[in-house]
Formats: sequence, C-alpha cells, structure tokens
Amino acid sequence: MKLIKFYEKLLSEIEADIEIVIVVAKNFDQRFCDAEKELLEAAGFQGEQDETCLLPERRKIFVGADSIHSADIRSAAACAVRALEGRGYRIAKMGAYMSHPTCTATLRAQAEGLLLGGYRFERYKSKKSDKHLHKVRISLEEYNGYALEIPAAQRAIDKAIVSAQATNFVRDIVNTAPDDCYPEVMASIAAELAEKEPRLSLQVLTPTEMEKEGMGALLAVARASRHEPRLIHLSYTPKETPVATVSIVGKGLTYDSGGLSLKPADFMVTMKADKSGGSAVLGILKAVAELHLPIEVHGFVGAVENMIGGDAYKPDDVLRAKNGKTIEVRNTDAEGRLVLADVLCYAQEQVKADYLFDLATLTGACVVGVGQYTSGVMGFGAEPVNRVLYAANTLAGEMATKLDFNRFLRKTLKSEIADICNISNTRYGGAITAGLFLGEFIDEEHKEKWAHIDIAGPAFVEHAWGENPHGASGAGVRTIVRLLEKLARGDEHK
Ligand code: BES
Ligand code: ZN
Ligand code: ZN
Repeated sequence: MKLIKFYEKLLSEIEADIEIVIVVAKNFDQRFCDAEKELLEAAGFQGEQDETCLLPERRKIFVGADSIHSADIRSAAACAVRALEGRGYRIAKMGAYMSHPTCTATLRAQAEGLLLGGYRFERYKSKKSDKHLHKVRISLEEYNGYALEIPAAQRAIDKAIVSAQATNFVRDIVNTAPDDCYPEVMASIAAELAEKEPRLSLQVLTPTEMEKEGMGALLAVARASRHEPRLIHLSYTPKETPVATVSIVGKGLTYDSGGLSLKPADFMVTMKADKSGGSAVLGILKAVAELHLPIEVHGFVGAVENMIGGDAYKPDDVLRAKNGKTIEVRNTDAEGRLVLADVLCYAQEQVKADYLFDLATLTGACVVGVGQYTSGVMGFGAEPVNRVLYAANTLAGEMATKLDFNRFLRKTLKSEIADICNISNTRYGGAITAGLFLGEFIDEEHKEKWAHIDIAGPAFVEHAWGENPHGASGAGVRTIVRLLEKLARGDEHK
C-alpha cells in the first residue's frame, strides 16, 4: 500500500471497496459504527486494541483502539490494513481521526499506520500477491465535532508518507538475505540515495583507506569475510543555515555469525538483521532530505561481515582502535562494539556535532532486560538521552527506555594486558557494559552530546506486532526523524 489521498468530501460520498472504521475506547455509539452495532456484537467483536472485525456484506472493517492517542491509532490502522491483506480489496476509505481540533498528530499516526501496516516483503517469493490494498482515501469530514484545517492536515499526511516510506525502505534492506546485501551493496544503496537527492553527498572508505585511518578494530572483524568492509559517510546539507549539526552512527553487520566465538545454530538465524542500525541511518538520511530539514545531518555506517576462517580474528588478539586504545578480544561475537569504536572515532574526527547518536543491534542482554519490543538508551549526558526517549515514546510510537551507566560496571571491562576488554567479566548488565565500552571511544568534547540506542530487540521480531510486520521493523527511523524535526523547530527538550 503506497497511496494515501485526501478528499474534501463526506465519507459517504467517497467511492471505495471497503471502509475502515476505528472503534475508539470501545465506544460503539460513535457515528461511524452506529448502524452496525448489532452485527458487531453478534460477531463477538469487543473493540480491544488491534482487534479487527470484517463485515463484508456492509463493506466495512472495524478495528479497536484503546484511545485516540497517536500510538493506539497508528497500531489500529496498521492492523486493519493487515487484516485486509489478500482479500482483494483495492481501495479503502476512512475518516480522519483527531484528538484535538488543532492537532494533527493523530492524523499523522493514522497515515503512518496505514503505510506501515501495508508493508510486504516479497523479494524472494516467486509468486507475488496481487490481492492487496492499493489506496486509502481519507475524508476530511469532521470528526468528533472538529473541523479539519486542510493545509495542516495535508502537511501531516505528507510527513507521515516520508517517515513511513523511510521505515519501509529500511525494512527492505534489513530483510534482504546476507548474500544479497553485503557491505558493498550497502554502499551502493547509499550511492543511489545520494544520486537521487541533490542535498545528499557520499563518501565511502575502502579497506586501504581504513588502514590509513588506523581502524584496527573494524578491520579485524572484517578480515575473514569474502566481502570487503565499507565505511559509509552519507551527509545532508540543508539549503539554509543549519540550526544544528547531528551525527548518527549505525552498526551495519551484514551478517554476524559470531566469528570464531561462533553462535549456536539457533542464535545465528536472523543475524542478517545485525545491519539494522546502519540501515536505519540510511533511511533517516533519506527522510531528512525529503523533509528538507534545516539541520546538517551526517550518517556513518560501519558495514562489515563477521565470519570464520583461517584469517579470522581471534579471542586473545589485541587490536588497536583509531583513537589509539588497545582492545583485548575475549569474544569475537562482541564485534559490533569493535566496529562502532572505529566508526565513532571517525565520525567525531570528521564532524564536530551538537548531537551524536548511535543505533545498533548491540546485545542480546538488552533484549533479555527490556523485552523484544523496546530499545535501551544510554549515555553520559541526560539531554540527548531524554530527547531520544521523548521522540520515541511520545512522538514516534516506538518504545525506548533508559539504562543507567555506573562506575562499577565500567570496571568489569578492565584488561590485564590491554587498555580494555571487548567483553565484561560479569554476566550481568550486558547492555550497559556494551554501552560503557562504546563510551571509551567518545571524546571529551562529545561526552555530553552522545546517546547510544541498543535496538537489538525491536529491530527484528519473528511475528507481527502493532504497526510492525514479521521480520524487520525499521526500528529507530521514526524516533530519530521525529527527534530531528523537533530540533529543527528549535524546541527545548523535555
Ligand atoms: N548482534 C549481536 C547482538 C544481538 C543478539 C542482536 C540478539 C539481536 C538479537 C551481538 O553482536 C552479539 O553477539 N553480542 C553478544 C555479546 C556478548 C558476546 C558479550 C551477545 O549479546 O550475546
Ligand atoms: Zn555478535
Ligand atoms: Zn552483532
């Protein structure tokens, strides 16, 4: 589903194969569902969040939402679209949902939900489905007694389209099989973006250049792969004087076998998704360029494959990162932090940013700690961390929670023979110790400006949840896009 269109017509005057009705807060008395109340009751429809009920004879599908708030409406709209999948309805219509007369936040979420819920990944299916929804027509008929202000509503929809399409773009990259999406392919995807968008520019480092930069950690991880690593630097320069400069670093492990500390078979499956952070960075730059945000944004992706072989880096190796710090390798499966160490150093050397974020499927411990739907956010400064939390939980409808650093966990990374170990000596607090490891590669100047986002849980889930389909979710994209939009407005953080 790629098209959402606005109609300055009453809902009843719009032609469509099916109408989508969101039943908000189990209120079966609202105008949209008054006539079908009895049918819904007979069908056992309760109006629970994301519960759907298709009434083909009435040409309507009903979906429950706990409230009119963005996150509930986004999820409900997505579930309705998903429930229509494969049924042959091509054009749907629905009213515009709003929580407040002047606020288009819910409408934006509604549109995002429709586009996110309509996502399908069919690259490897020999038979592509042709029975899917093509269009949703949204009526500007007033809702809840609120008349819509048309230009504001249209802007909300336009932004929804950009952020949802960027998310779906990232889902496509992440879902792609590891032998079809290796570091050079990631770089070529960035090149395509740079070619299309005049305000994006691209620089890609090859191993020879990375050697000159002293990136001993990243290069060690990459060594056993038949695919060369790439460091992708995709940047966006706005037309006007930027109100801020932001760097975003992404972990782009196109495959993580664990290396010589090989993953058990069951844990290796889905590790094509270890490129989720890097892929999100590409999607964010695409959205930023399309939204013409007045912010200078730099994306850095460490695209690497972690494999085994005679040339593989080993536990016991000592590596030297770009900033000169030496690292004792005790587990080759803690490779993301090694790659990020060098990319973070490079990003800070290249750009003196007001904010530095990194997105990474960094630790299984984060998934254990906070569940598979939520990201863990860490840092030394409260401000960037709070910005991420607010953008995620309040604006984007992604779930993120803070994980606190402390000096005792920092000590567990001590090495007897090098400056630091790549794993901690305790089995507890793995998400935080990984974050603290990254912290060792943040310079004084950027300490208070950095936030690390561990997306290991939400980036890839093997069932559909809310607005997310089975597989890649595009985690982090909507959060960072909303964060940047807010920054562009000059809003203080909460
Ligand atoms: N890519 C994994 C983390 C991961 C696990 C992402 C599950 C998504 C789902 C990372 O490179 C890794 O293997 N981390 C190790 C670290 C350990 C060796 C200290 C882990 O979490 O087990
Ligand atoms: Zn790993
Ligand atoms: Zn990994």
